[in-house]
Amino acid sequence: MGTREQELLAQLNLEPLWIPFTANRQFKANPRLLVAAKDMYYTSHDGRQILDAIAGLWAVNAGHCRAPIVEAIKKQAESIDYATGFQMHHPSAFLAAERLTQITPAGMDHAFFVNSGSEAVDTALKIALAYHRVRGEGTRNKFIGRERGYHGVGFGGISVGGMTANRKTFGGSLLPNVDHLPHTHNLEKNAYSRGQPEWGAHLADDLERLVALHDASNIAAVIVEPVAGSTGVLLPPKGYLERLRCICDKYGILLIFDEVITGFGRTGKAFAAQTFGVTPDLITCAKALTNASVPMGAVIVKKQIYDAFMTGPENAIEFYHGYTYSGHPLAAAAAIATLDLFKTEGLFQRGEELAPYWEDCAHALRGLPHVIDVRNIGLVVGIELEPIPNKPAARAFEAFLRAYQKGVLIRTTGDTIALSPPLIIEKSQIDQIFETVREVLKTLP
Ligand SMILES: Cc1ncc(COP(=O)(O)O)c(C=O)c1O
Repeated sequence: MGTREQELLAQLNLEPLWIPFTANRQFKANPRLLVAAKDMYYTSHDGRQILDAIAGLWAVNAGHCRAPIVEAIKKQAESIDYATGFQMHHPSAFLAAERLTQITPAGMDHAFFVNSGSEAVDTALKIALAYHRVRGEGTRNKFIGRERGYHGVGFGGISVGGMTANRKTFGGSLLPNVDHLPHTHNLEKNAYSRGQPEWGAHLADDLERLVALHDASNIAAVIVEPVAGSTGVLLPPKGYLERLRCICDKYGILLIFDEVITGFGRTGKAFAAQTFGVTPDLITCAKALTNASVPMGAVIVKKQIYDAFMTGPENAIEFYHGYTYSGHPLAAAAAIATLDLFKTEGLFQRGEELAPYWEDCAHALRGLPHVIDVRNIGLVVGIELEPIPNKPAARAFEAFLRAYQKGVLIRTTGDTIALSPPLIIEKSQIDQIFETVREVLKTLP
């Protein structure tokens, strides 16, 4: 440990902070702190430049501390710090909604602002329930999620989600009216797929079984991530999302795409809905909406959903839901600047153009020790490792630690390394990421 690092750590009392999704005691015994960030790099507390291979957390798609975003936040903070969004509002929230709905799939033209992905998910579920009720179909109160889905950590999100560790502790208190589709991950059939795998469209037909079991008149919505991120980059098989769309249409069930990580250029287009050519009824997003600079999320809905609420007396509140910080001025200003930056720099297109190079570099890892699958789309890749017997996730976590030592921030989930860099990445930095992963894989236990 160098002197600077010792000085910085000596001043910090690590104890009072309860760190989320982290092994607190292990971390505090050997902390990893990031103290500054610019473009593709973090500066670590021991003064090293760390290449960010995960865009913060699938979020900083335009790169870190970009001047136009920083300036927009500063300017807004100086002119208006806060305004309630209840029966009042401020201009930037409207401008942000306008910018956002300019890049959403056709017909998805209204946005409800929230502060995170988890809030976006719970809000979308509530919109779905209220939508059916306002149309006189109040019996539709069941949700269909999917195994291995991640939809944040609210009670709605963990109920429709399918990550065992996030659910088991709270099992008795999950939403009652939820069922799950099977996940689509199958290494035997689909290992080393480039883009969407061939096998598995039929797994969407399980929705027919659930409709037969529960009856469509009781089902409000189906929620899936177009690409499941947190459980290891699971791509939708060819034809799968189309079939889900078709079955939802047949029975009047709303389809929600949770695009918290797939939104804003991650898969090559603004939204994965556009990449895969399937338009849902609601989209949840967050993270890169503001380049992660200020917390913000949104639920984007089709016009007919918004219009269904705009009935009844004009002085009546149409939807009893919202957050103190919905459309917060700083978040709205950050969103406007971010969406403008994506556009002026053509970053979604840049991601799409780099994707074939990214794919080739990723698949060149095939054959290295422990690697049992590589799967990718846009600027995302999942590299699945054979687990150490009886020690799930241990091998991948060791890869994370070793890559960090070598100056590259990667992310692991279970035994999968999941990479998703900012869209401003250069080819030489792609080389550095995969070269580092390659070196790490060769030395892993
Ligand atoms: C698909 C998906 N939904 C929801 C969330 C939750 O977002 P947040 O952590 O902002 O609440 C995440 C977070 O990674 C996510 O990947």
